[in-house]
Amino acid sequence: MKKILLSGVKPTGRPHIGNYFGAMKQFVDLQNEHESYIFIADLHALTTVQNREEMNENILGVALDYLAIGLDPKKVVLYKQSDVPQVAELGWIFNCLTTVPYLMRAHAYKDAEAKNKEVNVGLFDYPLLMAADILIQDANVVPTGLDQKQHIEITRDTAEKFNRIFGETFKLPEPLILESVKTVPGIDGQKMSKSYNNTIGLFATDEEIKKAVMGIVTDSSAGVPTNVYAIHSLLKDKASLDTLYEEKKGKYKDLKDALISDLIAFIKPMREKREALAKNPKAVLEILKAGGEKARARAEAKMEVVREKIGVTL
Ligand code: ADP
Ligand code: TRP
Repeated sequence: MKKILLSGVKPTGRPHIGNYFGAMKQFVDLQNEHESYIFIADLHALTTVQNREEMNENILGVALDYLAIGLDPKKVVLYKQSDVPQVAELGWIFNCLTTVPYLMRAHAYKDAEAKNKEVNVGLFDYPLLMAADILIQDANVVPTGLDQKQHIEITRDTAEKFNRIFGETFKLPEPLILESVKTVPGIDGQKMSKSYNNTIGLFATDEEIKKAVMGIVTDSSAGVPTNVYAIHSLLKDKASLDTLYEEKKGKYKDLKDALISDLIAFIKPMREKREALAKNPKAVLEILKAGGEKARARAEAKMEVVREKIGVTL
């Protein structure tokens, strides 16, 4: 029996190479050994994306992104969260078992509060909808970036709480966080993030790649530009990278040129595949629809058990 892998991706904009190495790539690497469920977390995105056209575009965009990086819809169930309305039902049930002070400890909420942002109930409740996504499919493994670790802990706590009150129902999922690429740095050396304007787009054009690399802040130590090296190390093994950086010690322009050509070699084939797929959006939507049907059927079967346990089926 293969383990069940599940992860969600918020459709909030174009991905960068930090998203790819920190999260997206793992789904492709793991698709053969697992029974995989990857979904587009559109209901989560609704906490911030409140515009029909933008939502439509982002959903299709995420599907294209994942198909372009090599996610195989024959191996992976790719779907939209909103095609599984049972998650909202389960999320509500979890709301009723969770205290407000417990959720107030969630980082995303605390950060938004600290920045004096207006917090909608959806943002506050975000971790419990995520718990529902995961637990409704009986997932064993949840690959994510480090920033989602706390959400997986909340998911486990919630499963335990439900099981304690209503009897053994949910499996406890394990997070899967790739240590080696925990945080991909951006062109300024901070964490690469679309909020910091320091990204290299995963499907960037050659021109955009050149511009981004030329913009890398070259603070150096012993002739090695550390930020250039850090990004380069995502694409090349340490031995050949160290040889190159030793040979070109102090020659920042040459090292940046080498990074540009390695980035282009890596990005161009994926960008071209994405462009080809984008010519036939109908085929992509069909894949999402078929995935949604599968995921919904599994979720409904689980909810029949849950409804029975909480005592609403009589
Ligand atoms: P951003 O910070 O650009 O808004 P998101 O928060 O949308 O990125 O992250 C989407 C996924 O990509 C998450 O699983 C996150 O952990 C991962 N991720 C984002 N930025 C990085 C990074 N710089 N290094 C590693 N993983 C990242
Ligand atoms: N919270 C995740 C993010 O912001 C997206 C997400 C929603 C998710 N539901 C999930 C991830 C379930 C893993 C499992 O990136």
